[in-house]
Amino acid sequence: MPTSSISFVPPVIAHRGASNLAPENTLSAFVKAAATGAKWVEFDVMLAACGEAVVIHDETLERTTNGTGNVSDHPYSYLRTLDAGSWFHPRFANERIPTFKEVIAVIEAHGLNANVEIKALPGLEDQTVRKVLSDIENYWPKDATPPLISSFSMEALKLVRAYSPPALIAILIHEWFEAWYDYTEALSCVSLDINHEILDADKVKLIKATDRFLLCYTVNNPQRALELFSWGVDAVFTDQVNVIMKAL
Ligand code: G3P
Ligand code: MG
Repeated sequence: MPTSSISFVPPVIAHRGASNLAPENTLSAFVKAAATGAKWVEFDVMLAACGEAVVIHDETLERTTNGTGNVSDHPYSYLRTLDAGSWFHPRFANERIPTFKEVIAVIEAHGLNANVEIKALPGLEDQTVRKVLSDIENYWPKDATPPLISSFSMEALKLVRAYSPPALIAILIHEWFEAWYDYTEALSCVSLDINHEILDADKVKLIKATDRFLLCYTVNNPQRALELFSWGVDAVFTDQVNVIMKAL
């Protein structure tokens, strides 16, 4: 597996950027993550109606913007006019929903690594995967660590593997299921990104015996993070990147 270029030092991944210091999944959130000394960020990518890849978590606009309706129903020419920061704090009123391409430029400028989570709507898996891979091909710096590509959609991950044999795939697991090993083998995953609430020391041992990375989400309690590290977890996704960094 081409994982020699990957290192989780420090073992912290800023979940949607520094989402406690700036509105999640905005350019400011990634800049602030870098300022904490973190080396990894996670963010969510989905398609706008025009086919542009945008960075946003929810399928709908209400929680994190002043827009309404489904992200996938609007072209980026509309999405880019929305305020994606005031919900968090008025001083972020100029934040916009960034494109994937814009986020790549910011993480390159700050020397960050990234876990790109594909949010593929049912029926749009193929289009979403093709766009994410083509943006990576066109814009990801060639000398940087390639992104980890994750998704809850097994359909999307199968397409990633089919279209990109060298892709670094992480399988996302929210509920424990016994077939996890078969899936990781079939997809040649380099990592398992797992809900920490379903893990215990034995499961960590089992997973680490397969010689893959084990990353856990979403861990905001420093004591819990330290416990997970003591079991052998490689890194945690956290909304409290500055807090977990300090606890290390
Ligand atoms: O990638 C880890 C985590 O982000 C998965 O859940 O809903 O926060 O995207 P979610
Ligand atoms: Mg995510």
